[in-house]
Amino acid sequence: MGAFKEPHGGELKDLYLSEDRADQERELARDYASWDLTPRQICDLDLMMNGAFSPLEGFMNEADYTSVCKDMRLTSGVLWPMPVTLDVSQEFSESIKAGQTIALRDLEGVLLATFEVSDIYSPDLMAEAQSVYSTTDDLHPAVAFLKDKSNPVYLGGTVRGIEPPTYYDFKLLRDTPSELRGRFRKLGWRKVVAFQTRNPLHRAHQELTFRAAREVEANLLIHPVVGMTKQGDIDHFTRVRCYEHVLEQYPEQTTQLSLLNLAMRMGGPREAIWHAIIRKNYGCTHFVVGRDHAGPGNDKEGNPFYGPYEAQELYLKHEKELDIAMVPFKMMVYVENKAEYAPADEVDKADTVLNLSGTEFRRRLREGLEIPEWFSYPKVVEELRKAHPPKHKQGFTVFFTGLSGSGKSTIANALMVKLLEDGSRPVTLLDGDVVRKNLSSELSFSKEHRDLNIQRIGFVASEITKNGGIAICAPIAPYAATRRQVREMVSELGGFIEIHVATPIEVCEARDRKGLYAKARAGLIKGFTGIDDPYDVPENPELVIDTAKLTPDLAAHRMLIKLEQMGYLR
Ligand code: ADX
Repeated sequence: MGAFKEPHGGELKDLYLSEDRADQERELARDYASWDLTPRQICDLDLMMNGAFSPLEGFMNEADYTSVCKDMRLTSGVLWPMPVTLDVSQEFSESIKAGQTIALRDLEGVLLATFEVSDIYSPDLMAEAQSVYSTTDDLHPAVAFLKDKSNPVYLGGTVRGIEPPTYYDFKLLRDTPSELRGRFRKLGWRKVVAFQTRNPLHRAHQELTFRAAREVEANLLIHPVVGMTKQGDIDHFTRVRCYEHVLEQYPEQTTQLSLLNLAMRMGGPREAIWHAIIRKNYGCTHFVVGRDHAGPGNDKEGNPFYGPYEAQELYLKHEKELDIAMVPFKMMVYVENKAEYAPADEVDKADTVLNLSGTEFRRRLREGLEIPEWFSYPKVVEELRKAHPPKHKQGFTVFFTGLSGSGKSTIANALMVKLLEDGSRPVTLLDGDVVRKNLSSELSFSKEHRDLNIQRIGFVASEITKNGGIAICAPIAPYAATRRQVREMVSELGGFIEIHVATPIEVCEARDRKGLYAKARAGLIKGFTGIDDPYDVPENPELVIDTAKLTPDLAAHRMLIKLEQMGYLR
């Protein structure tokens, strides 16, 4: 009997130094210039160091970068579709020279690698976008990254691995390529088909993976991405719990689950090739490419950036060279009359086909509506509902804005009491004066400090909202730009209801509860909102209340009705 043949994968580039060398390097690195890695760079470095990006041995130099952008190949001729670059600030790039070794550290300052810089170059980021993603439209997440987030200078060179980034979650499910190859060897798996995903597995995906494994008579690796995916995707904590539920549905001993710390670019066809190379490095022999693989969504005109099967077409061209076979699939649809999923091209004319788009699925989740069993497993839906409760269980922020003396505090109080009576969630009132006394006691009323004050309120409100509570904020918040920031910060995590307390200044001034207007008029207070500092009237608040025309009690009723209409109260 011959030696067990490594079924697949080819040579792995393991960039980690031996323990002794790593210790020496740690000593030396004390004197090195140090770059704090971004979250995306940490993902890239992780997969580079553990060999998932073989044959890369570092971040790309200019020649490789140019060649990858243009021809999808490294200068060595090896097929490689995606730039993997170390972007740094202008300032940092000017502080170092080619030939120098620098330290690469994580967010806490832990030394992950040292990096011998061979190249310092300023890329044309939009040319990169055009050649790699075929667009400069910033609705493409990778283009938006290049436009808004990427640093302007790239460093190329060789990485020496010191230690992998630390992850505290799902440790047992995170594998390096050699670990996974080892496991396949141990299990005697000679053929392995990998399934890439950044979404929870529903029944369609499961059927797809079943069919793939059956078709090529291979074992199955569910290989979801937990590094960085598309904004708005379900968080990976939730997804992994879902995968574990779905795994119970697979015949025992046929399937493995492993998590991949990849930072996706949503690069469609090129990304599919990249995914395949990575899976080959992990020891897989086959790779599933379905409809719209790694699709970034639609462009400014509302058209998809890539055709639904463009990834399959590009893969086909390079399949031989890639040395990992594609298992292509047409769109999977549910055939009601047969009570099973099938690829769209295998459906008969007489069949009734059901489909629930991703958008519709998310809407139902958001609204707490029914999700049919043919679409997903009840345990998966339950997990998703926990992470995405319907509106009446989500946290929200009611953000009052208005002049001093407009009655914000009074009606905010009235609203708080009504919400406490309702009792569905804990309520916190972040009243202007109270915040100024506790959270922002050192701040003045300069523009800068007012903004800082509102940002602090926004931060606290967003934390309360995230954890399912109600935050009622009642600052003056005179500037539209700052209010917009708060809205953006909170809306990602729950509801945001802006209420403009539009009591006219004459009424506020006539009330002059704290005597502030009189002082401002007399010039004793400078920069008073409405007198000698501007108030930007909100353009699209959810509600406008004029306390000159409404008692606090009626105002509170109006607000409750609004919250009910918006779905936050039942
Ligand atoms: S992706 O960004 O990782 O590609 P997703 O997790 O939705 O997104 O897809 C994982 C894989 O399943 C991809 O190969 C994709 O093409 C395929 N896929 C997802 N949904 C379907 C479907 N309904 N029909 C066919 N293939 C699908």
